[in-house]
Amino acid sequence: MSLTFSLQRNANPRTDADVAAIHAAPGFGQYFTDHMALATWSVEGGWRDDAIVPYGPLQLDPAAAVLHYAQEVFEGLKAYRHADGSIWLFRPEMNAARFAASAERLCLPVLPEEDFLTSIADLVKADARWVPSGETEKSLYLRPFMFASESFLGVRPARTVTYCLIASPVGAYFPQGVAPVDIWVTDEYSRAGIGGTGAAKCGGNYASSLIAQEEGYEHGCSQVLFIEASAKDRVEELGGMNVFLITKDGRLRTPALMGSILAGVTRDSILRMGERLGLRPDEGRITPDELTEGITSGEVVEAFCCGTAAVISPISGFKSRQGEVRLADGAHDQTLAIRNAILDVQYGRAEDTFGWMHRVA
Ligand code: COI
Repeated sequence: MSLTFSLQRNANPRTDADVAAIHAAPGFGQYFTDHMALATWSVEGGWRDDAIVPYGPLQLDPAAAVLHYAQEVFEGLKAYRHADGSIWLFRPEMNAARFAASAERLCLPVLPEEDFLTSIADLVKADARWVPSGETEKSLYLRPFMFASESFLGVRPARTVTYCLIASPVGAYFPQGVAPVDIWVTDEYSRAGIGGTGAAKCGGNYASSLIAQEEGYEHGCSQVLFIEASAKDRVEELGGMNVFLITKDGRLRTPALMGSILAGVTRDSILRMGERLGLRPDEGRITPDELTEGITSGEVVEAFCCGTAAVISPISGFKSRQGEVRLADGAHDQTLAIRNAILDVQYGRAEDTFGWMHRVA
């Protein structure tokens, strides 16, 4: 039976003035709406206790398995307000499918796509006034997640699991907005290996990226680029985003999905939109040498990183312990053309010819 997420309205919602102040300077992931969605799953009863409830702390037993063994998965998607006030989601079925695939990899129960989408639509409707106006490209970031809530210290898949969905009005992911970022290429740390959890959106992947990310910050970089773990012969992805290169001869290159890279929704959309804009999508192997030599020789003319949170951010250079290679200053016209074309669809400024948008309110 499908879940219905009945609404238990927050008796103390934030005032309209508070929401307006948050919308003026939302940052990323700092403020949360009045409600959240919850559901629990157990081996005996399946999914139940689904509801939209007032946003607030979760009560968790200190023995909850997620706190010990990190059995957890999450997603990220956004709700966009169009000029006529309507609210839309971008390819949410891809998030639903990836959430299910991540859950299977982490031995968590699958939340049926229909229930995932209902929870999102119902929370967005309940907190519709929290979706910022699209004029300044702000949005409501939605964060569905699922974790092992059973109190048990044995190592096995949990028999009780919690699903939760929270929402946060957001602006740009990087504090500097769409300004180009430098990327740290780590040769010491790996994010994932073949057979590991790299293709799943689970908290553990992000936890393991932090030490390299810190190293990147120390070198003035905003993100870290990981290289394949064993042979070290191909570039994979950034701590929280996918990576793309544009070549002089019009190729739109990105590492192929080989089981250790997250299949980004923005990544897939860029490949399709890039082709529409005249570039040739090229998913394959990019060796670290190709990356540096391509930039040095001028073969690679633009580079950018992408994800739901950051959309598309131009890359200005790659730094590593071996040195630094830099893209030409201001070389991101094609990157920005793809970025704008996708944002125009998301914010309803261009016709949705791919059928990507889903209206929720
Ligand atoms: C996203 O782009 O939605 C992400 O999940 C990246 C990061 C904020 C974890």
